[in-house]
Amino acid sequence: MKKIGIFTSGGDAPGMNAAVRAVVRTCLSNNLQPYGIYEGYKGLIAGDIYPLTSKDVSNIIQKGGTFLKSARCKEFHLPEGRQKAFENIQKHQLDGIVAIGGDGTFTGANIFNQEFNVPFIGIPGTIDNDLYGTDYTIGYDTALNTVIDAVDKIRDTANSHNRLFLVEVMGRDAGFIALRSGIAVGAEAILVPETPTYINELIAKLESGTKTHKQSMIVIVAEGDDAGGAYKIAEEVKQKCSNYDTRVTILGHIQRGGSPSALDRVLASHLGNAAVNALLEGKTNLMVGIVNKDVTYTSFDKAIKHHQTINMDLLKLAEVLSC
Ligand code: F6P
Repeated sequence: MKKIGIFTSGGDAPGMNAAVRAVVRTCLSNNLQPYGIYEGYKGLIAGDIYPLTSKDVSNIIQKGGTFLKSARCKEFHLPEGRQKAFENIQKHQLDGIVAIGGDGTFTGANIFNQEFNVPFIGIPGTIDNDLYGTDYTIGYDTALNTVIDAVDKIRDTANSHNRLFLVEVMGRDAGFIALRSGIAVGAEAILVPETPTYINELIAKLESGTKTHKQSMIVIVAEGDDAGGAYKIAEEVKQKCSNYDTRVTILGHIQRGGSPSALDRVLASHLGNAAVNALLEGKTNLMVGIVNKDVTYTSFDKAIKHHQTINMDLLKLAEVLSC
């Protein structure tokens, strides 16, 4: 193994730069030449591939986004696109690839691996934390802190005006951001895609809070909740119960940016190093992760299809503490 390609793909996540830095520096310390592939699979298909030096990754550990850029690439879904990608890997004589991303990235890597025999190792990088085989994905902790910072501010104004706020957070398929941020901000209710949402139950919950001591109400809504987005839920609440002066905030892409937290920087450094070591040990078609402080390897297939399951005990905890 002499040359290793590295790319970031799918939705960006804080800590991706720290992971690229760790991959590059681990390569160099093992006398491997790292190559940056720009814009994920798009750059692999276009041949946007250049050698990286230690200096290229200086001063990036603290930066959000990804300096390698990212993309969601439709062309890679087609056999012709994957063929072009393979030709570019051959052209640059890349002996292995490290892919940083989420389920879309690893779905692509899994298919590619079955068609072409190129060693691939994945690093979980997504704010969604929805991959099986790692306790945390890179970017999740920073996104949580961003949500907490924003909702604490919303709580100030909600309290001043005795208002109900529905705050929508990211997670089109998973409620991990909603669940943990909801607990951390003391939300009155948390709505996640993993459990059905009933508007009548939500109203009953809000009413019981009003009867006691609550001045403001915060409902955290995961973007993929089955009752629809925060605006739709707010409308339904208003129609059924006019007691609340209601406002909606969609936090959106603010959750994807910002300087990575300490946890994300260390996690990214650890996993970047582990990914290169895995390639050197001849491993392939696996995602590296950390479970209970140990480095683990999970097949792409399992990482995507098994999905991380939501901790129902935490959901119950939120219920108990929000009364
Ligand atoms: O997968 C990360 C994520 O931020 C999801 O939480 C969100 O649903 C999606 O990406 C948004 O994607 P895009 O930036 O392509 O609109």
